[in-house]
Amino acid sequence: MSNEPQQETHEVLQSLIWENDALSLLDQRLLPEETVYLRLTTPQDVWEAIRELKVRGAPAIGIAAAYGVVLGVRGLSGSAADWAAEVSRHAEHLATSRPTAVNLFWALDRMKARAQELASLGIAPAEAIEALLDEAKRIQAEDEETNRLIGEHALTLFKDGMGVLTHCNAGGLATAKYGTALAPFYLALEQGIKLKVFADETRPVLQGARLTAFELQRAGVDVTLICDNMAGHVMSKGWIQAVIVGTDRVAANGDVANKIGTYGVAVLARAHGIPFYVASPLSTIDLSTPTGAGIPIEERHPDEVTAGFGKRTAPQGVAVYNPAFDVTPGELVTAIITEKGIVTAPYEENLRKLFE
Ligand code: MRU
Repeated sequence: MSNEPQQETHEVLQSLIWENDALSLLDQRLLPEETVYLRLTTPQDVWEAIRELKVRGAPAIGIAAAYGVVLGVRGLSGSAADWAAEVSRHAEHLATSRPTAVNLFWALDRMKARAQELASLGIAPAEAIEALLDEAKRIQAEDEETNRLIGEHALTLFKDGMGVLTHCNAGGLATAKYGTALAPFYLALEQGIKLKVFADETRPVLQGARLTAFELQRAGVDVTLICDNMAGHVMSKGWIQAVIVGTDRVAANGDVANKIGTYGVAVLARAHGIPFYVASPLSTIDLSTPTGAGIPIEERHPDEVTAGFGKRTAPQGVAVYNPAFDVTPGELVTAIITEKGIVTAPYEENLRKLFE
């Protein structure tokens, strides 16, 4: 009998499913222990799910918000213009759920634009709602296709036997399917390319431990979980040949906002001469924000740091700073991998070309 751990493999869990006139949402706060789908029926349900991290990851919150808008205008009658105004009202509210991931605003803008278009054609609400639902479904379907392409491009950077480190969760759970940074790992598995993945646990909410380790292990990817403060050590041992992470927003100059701790990993990668890759769909690139300094960084509740998962680990009343994201300067980014291909510096010029 082999000493290899026995591994059952499963399909990647889908985080968002539109079914029976409602959004069925995998509650990511409960993973890995429980797999519970919530039935969301109002925009407020979706707003709370985004705010409370029941759904998280830049593309997934954009998709959820798009369905949230649909939930707000079901059953409305009145004029096409009134209906489009309601779409905008719900979109404005959903946009206040979280500030950093630009996919949220991108998806909501797309839903508003579609509603305006339908209204200007004078299409009655009953018919327009179906068209708006189709738009939300398209956003979800395009995300899956985009991620597969990102995975294919990213995989050209990896070779059999490499060790690759990732931070946070930019996987199937954070997107429609495959993920961005995790997509090459799924494709490598399909193609029999052996990669050894190291997942940072990702304090304070443990997306790396609870979600990345969970979804990769479930799929049969060779994944090893480490605490965030072990990344430098495993790099120094020569176990890591590349780092790949996702992103919540890429500024026009190539500065990258991602889960808190990403910046430290990028500095460590540079110190060890390891390439640092960022997987980003075009929907995460924000040319209207010139540099990372302009990206709003969400600050979350101190309890995430002092009493995560119900266990108090710090004295009551201690001052806490809990930013959910940090910005990695573009100079530390070896390449940004998009669905349109791999982009390298100068980012200012080369990111712009993607949209021409
Ligand atoms: O706070 P979260 O869990 O929403 O943060 C998620 C990340 O930072 C991901 O890396 C990013 O959204 C990319 S997901 C493809």
